[in-house]
Order: sequence, then structure tokens, then C-alpha cells
Amino acid sequence: MDLGLKGRVALVTGASWGIGREVALSFAREGVNVMVHYHRHGQEAEEVAREAAALGVRAITHKADISQGDQVEAMVQKVLAELGSLDILVSNAGFSIQQAFTETTREDWDKTIDPSLYGPLYLCRATIEPMMKQGWGRIVSVVTDAARVGQSRMALNSAARAAFIGLMKSLGREYGRYGITCNAVALGWIRTPATAPYLDQWGQEVVKFYPLRRLGVTQDVAPAVVFLASEAASWITGQVLAINGGYSMQG
Ligand SMILES: NC(=O)c1ccc[n+]([C@@H]2O[C@H](COP(=O)([O-])OP(=O)(O)OC[C@H]3O[C@@H](n4cnc5c(N)ncnc54)[C@H](OP(=O)(O)O)[C@@H]3O)[C@@H](O)[C@H]2O)c1
Repeated sequence: MDLGLKGRVALVTGASWGIGREVALSFAREGVNVMVHYHRHGQEAEEVAREAAALGVRAITHKADISQGDQVEAMVQKVLAELGSLDILVSNAGFSIQQAFTETTREDWDKTIDPSLYGPLYLCRATIEPMMKQGWGRIVSVVTDAARVGQSRMALNSAARAAFIGLMKSLGREYGRYGITCNAVALGWIRTPATAPYLDQWGQEVVKFYPLRRLGVTQDVAPAVVFLASEAASWITGQVLAINGGYSMQG
């Protein structure tokens, strides 16, 4: 199937490793030029950009703390200046702690909500106007399915991401007339460098709750993100697609 993505430009946040890395490289395989955003893992991001460029697309990197609006704005300006447009935003970067809610502090709340909700707010604010001008845009958010079904010891990220889903649906309604779609993928446990230590310890217990009896890998997520960003998904907006091995089966 031709996804109609060749020559498009994508900004993928948190693309230095894990899910973001797989998404950036999957776009490159479809001929999409990519901005590989990172926060702390610069060397890994450079490696992703090198791998993407080897697939024949333009790929650049940029360091930004997405909880800072001026840094997000500068990053979007760099995409527009160096890659010529901004067609696709994959808001993948985020931060989560696992802790009993009653033990969390205001500092923990800010540490989670700043990148997981304010970051996406800044990203959407900076990217929608260029998308409106060109009459085409795709925003795909990567969130935890706990945003919809809840999870013990993950109240903060669940709350931030539930708000993000509300943002996606509202923006999908408000800017659909400009050819902009806004969707989310809601994930169960996916093995990444960030989750490996937890899954090494608890994976065998956790997997018992998954009907498909395995936990996710990054390759389970990237194809859905690429599809939602494609021409083939041009009549899909405001949707939350669960990628979770059947852990939750909400409509
Ligand atoms: N893996 C899972 O099981 C799972 C399940 C549900 C949802 N998710 C969500 O899926 C996304 C990707 O998860 P992952 O496991 O692949 O990796 P991750 O390490 O949880 O998060 C992705 C990236 O977010 C970036 N980031 C964190 N704080 C930031 C900030 N203030 N400014 C800019 N970037 C920041 C980090 O970039 P640097 O590394 O460059 O610092 C990190 O690599 C995350 O949003 C995560 O919450 C993951």
C-alpha cells in the first residue's frame, strides 16, 4: 500500500531511543524527512539521524526541553528552516514515575506534568499554525493506556496523558477543517531501554494480564503511528488506538 508519505517532514520527539527511535526510522523507510528530537541522549539521537539518512532521507537532530515553550518554538522554527515544512508531529517524549499517589510531592507532579502535558501543549501550539497554512497536518500522540483505564502507582502520568487525549480530541474538532488530524496511540507495556529494568524484574508477572501473553516491542507501535500519519488515514481523527496486546478492550 502506498502510504503517500514520501517527501513529507516529521518531527518525532524523544526519538533518541525506544519507541521514538523506531518511529523515526520507520518514517525514514517511507521516505519521510525527520527531525530527531532528544533531551539528554544526544549521541543516540545522532546515531538515529545517521541511520535515517542512510535510508535516503534528510535527518537532523535537535536538543530541547519540551517543558520550555521557547525551546519548543526554536525547534519548530529549525524544522521549518532546515527541512522546509512540518507535516507530521509525533509527540512521543514524556516522563513517568511509578509511586503511590499519597507519597508524591508537588515536585513530582511538576516533574511529570511539565513534559507529559505542558510539553505536548507547547508542541501543538507551535506546529498547528504551519500545518493550517499548508492545509495538511498530522498529530499523533504516544500515551499510556493508563490514561483511559487507570493504573496503580501511575496516577500522575495517567492524569497528564488523559488530559492530552482530551487535547487531541478537541484539536481534532477545531482544526479538522484545515486537513489536520489528531490521534493517539495508547500503549501497554513496551520493552524499551526505559522500561527494561522494571520488566526484567516484573515482566513475567505483568504478562499474565495480557491476553496475547507477550509484552510489546517498539515494532508493535511504529507501524500504527506511521499509518495514522499517512494519507491512508485521512478520514480518521480524534481516535485513541490501544496497542496493548488486549490488556484493555475499550471501544
Ligand atoms: N515503554 C512503555 O512501556 C510505554 C508504555 C506506555 C506509554 N509509553 C510512552 O511512550 C513514550 C516513549 O516511551 P519509551 O519507553 O520509548 O521512552 P521514554 O524514555 O519513557 O521516553 C521517551 C523520551 O522522552 C524524552 N523526554 C523526557 N523528558 C523530556 C523533556 N523534559 N524534554 C524533552 N524530552 C524529554 C527522553 O529523551 P532523552 O532520552 O533524549 O532524554 C526520552 O528518551 C513515552 O511518552 C512513554 O511515557 C511508554
